[in-house]
Amino acid sequence: MTRHLLDITDLSCPELLEVLDAAVDPAPDPVLEGRGAALLFNKPSARTRHATEMAVVALGGHPIYVGPEEVGIDERETAEDVARTMSAYHHLIGARVHEHAVLDRMALAGSVPVVNLLSDRSHPLQAIADLLTVRSELGGFQGRTVAWVGDFSNVARSLAHAAALVGMGIAIASPDGYGPSQADVDEIGALGAAPVEAGTDPVAAVTGAHVVVTDAWYSMGQEDEKAERMPIFTPYRVDAALMSHAADDAIFLHCLPAHRGDEVTDEVLDGPRSRVWVEAANRLPAARGAIAWLVSQGSP
Ligand code: CP
Ligand code: NVA
Repeated sequence: MTRHLLDITDLSCPELLEVLDAAVDPAPDPVLEGRGAALLFNKPSARTRHATEMAVVALGGHPIYVGPEEVGIDERETAEDVARTMSAYHHLIGARVHEHAVLDRMALAGSVPVVNLLSDRSHPLQAIADLLTVRSELGGFQGRTVAWVGDFSNVARSLAHAAALVGMGIAIASPDGYGPSQADVDEIGALGAAPVEAGTDPVAAVTGAHVVVTDAWYSMGQEDEKAERMPIFTPYRVDAALMSHAADDAIFLHCLPAHRGDEVTDEVLDGPRSRVWVEAANRLPAARGAIAWLVSQGSP
């Protein structure tokens, strides 16, 4: 059966740990040798495009970047027809889309693995890089808690799923109306044994946390909400005062791009607790591990 990675929840806990191990394999099998990977982007990208292209190269494959103007998913032809066409030439499809449902449709219609390169719902490759960072920087997951501060974004949802699967505690602080839904909280809670605390108080969420994480206050596609969101999110800025409530060995993560001075101050982003450049670098092994694992699921 063809496996896809549209959400972290497509993986069981043991499978997620296999992906993490594949990510740190110093000599991965060239599972894409002589094979192509179509990487379709309907939104801008720096980290995801470069990390995924280089991951495909590292696995012996040939990545082809496809911009929004070229294929026109659901504009020039349907997502299903794009997936069928790309499946004829490639061994993998990666896609960054606005609506997550487009990925579901591509996975159903195509015949090769589909990887989510970011949708409005989730960003699983980012979450895998974040787990790699936590594991290497803190030595493991057990007994560790992650505090998410700000918008409960695509990145937040995937990180919460991943953290729950590996047994981390999760605390979330978002303004009213911008936090996880009850369905989100239930889903995260069902994935792991550790508690999920969701509220509106950033100090309560960060107190004692080992990993403090935030994201832009408005995501790609939400730029017209910027003026409305800025005053609502200002109390959720991660600054040195907020970080002082975290555990002594706490680290700070951000998927990037950061809006410096909005969701995080320069002092924190460039400070001694920040691991954002390790995190950004980990996007490549995360993509390589996930792709190697997915492609190998189809092999005898
Ligand atoms: N973190 C992340 O996905 O960055 P890009 O949008 O630059 O790919
Ligand atoms: N939540 C952000 C993440 C960017 C990597 C967005 O979707 O724009």
